[in-house]
Amino acid sequence: MERLNSHLKIAETCHSVRQNLIFVAQFKKMSDDLYNNEVAFELQPKVIDETRQGEAMITARPQSVKANGKKFYIESYGCQMNFADSEVVASILNSAGFDATTEFIDADLILINTCAIRENAEQRIRHRLQHFRGVKKRKKGALVGVLGCMAERLKEQFLEQEKIVDIVAGPDTYRYLPDLIAEAGSGQKAVNVLLSREETYAEINPVRLNSNGITAFISIMRGCDNMCAFCVVPFTRGRERSRDWQTIVAEAKELYEQGYREVTLLGQNVDSYRYSEDPTLVGKKLLEAKYDPGVVNFAGLMEKVALIAPDLRVRFSTSHPKDMTDDVLHMMAKYPNICKYVHLPVQSGNSRILEMMNRTYDREWYIQRIEAIRRIVPDAAISTDIISGFCSETEEEHKDTLSMMEYVKYSMAYMFVYSERPGTVAAKKYKDDVPEDVKKRRLQEIVDIHRLHALELNKEDVGKEFEVLIEGVSARNDMELYGRNTQNKVIVFPKGDLKPGTYANVRVTSCTSGTLIGTVIQ
Ligand code: 5AD
Ligand code: SF4
Repeated sequence: MERLNSHLKIAETCHSVRQNLIFVAQFKKMSDDLYNNEVAFELQPKVIDETRQGEAMITARPQSVKANGKKFYIESYGCQMNFADSEVVASILNSAGFDATTEFIDADLILINTCAIRENAEQRIRHRLQHFRGVKKRKKGALVGVLGCMAERLKEQFLEQEKIVDIVAGPDTYRYLPDLIAEAGSGQKAVNVLLSREETYAEINPVRLNSNGITAFISIMRGCDNMCAFCVVPFTRGRERSRDWQTIVAEAKELYEQGYREVTLLGQNVDSYRYSEDPTLVGKKLLEAKYDPGVVNFAGLMEKVALIAPDLRVRFSTSHPKDMTDDVLHMMAKYPNICKYVHLPVQSGNSRILEMMNRTYDREWYIQRIEAIRRIVPDAAISTDIISGFCSETEEEHKDTLSMMEYVKYSMAYMFVYSERPGTVAAKKYKDDVPEDVKKRRLQEIVDIHRLHALELNKEDVGKEFEVLIEGVSARNDMELYGRNTQNKVIVFPKGDLKPGTYANVRVTSCTSGTLIGTVIQ
């Protein structure tokens, strides 16, 4: 675990594709050694996953706000939503007079934004908390706060289980952090885990000082109403709600004016984004009013963001196969700056398992969605999430997942073994009865097949030309740049006199399973 943390530290300072890829390879080995039940075989360094776990953020207090003399340290785990939330938290604390530090030993307030999606994610956080003990001993009055999904799941229990913790704050309570900090500062433990039906932090401008200044994430909705049987998210992030489109577009515009050239619209299920000014249109009614005039749905939102500027790329994540409608695909096809990349978690390729998972689609439906992508956006790359060894999964059913992979050929995949989460439908209804070694063996088969596909797909790109948004200079070789094409694939190429934040046309000359290598076409 120590070794793992030192590797996580390396990730904090990794800025190049190659370093990231090396790190990912190292991390994969470490995670196999240490947890042996989760693989984020991440070929694309930009997608937040293992390489960003534990990343610390540095931010700046607005000049108009008087310093309160206290420093906070925040590190984040889990999905992109959590990282985006940490940016909101940093903004709230800066506005309350706190300054940020990237060294937890210097901090008066240590915050850890947590993930509860799998058991090993929680174990990692419990272990990490032990590292903060020394600070509390050395620095009188230093506080430790736990944010995010694990805070929401465990609530007050967290305080009993981990004595080091002073503050427990769920994902919808970050506005109240200054109050919670004051309460904890007066010697009481402070807890707020209320979930909200409205909170979207719409008008809070997240601070993004860790970023590369070129690509950014924008939260467009919060929560999830899907109740997949395996998933703890509906319990930890509450009901689904969409942020108003005006603040989303304003945030994207501001980012563009600051020089950003790519925004990723984030939500657990972006296809159910709906916004209406009509206060009577709420919940199910609003979902059903998808095509009503005055209702902005996800396709409509994408269009508004795409229209900001033709050289602002728009990405989105995550799509749900049950909701990904053709209008979203047509919108992708209509605007060249909407990236041709769809993250469409399949979870399993078998209809009986999908039904038990409460995914509300079957194998045929998923295949029909893949066909729609291929028909409407033929050049789109498709990525996915897969769970191996869900309750009662047989060998034949596992083979259905492999054959689905064979059919789709995913360019990227997050692959996991099933981890039972307390309180979920699966934990209540089904037995977690696939033996650990079988789950792991199946996962390995999934990973192996995915690697073959990734290499195969990359080989097909050799000889092709792509427009690449340049994201940075390779740390391995400062004469090389890296960026991504619309399909989210990383391309490395000689620098010439090109600069990050601009576009280049690049012809792919060779590849590995993780990277395309090319030359710039004048
Ligand atoms: N066990 C394993 N994987 C899970 N995921 C969500 N819950 C679990 C669980 N209990 C995976 C799903 C989801 C991704 C974010 O995490 O594949 O799409
Ligand atoms: Fe979890 Fe399913 Fe919601 Fe995704 S769609 S967050 S897997 S419940």
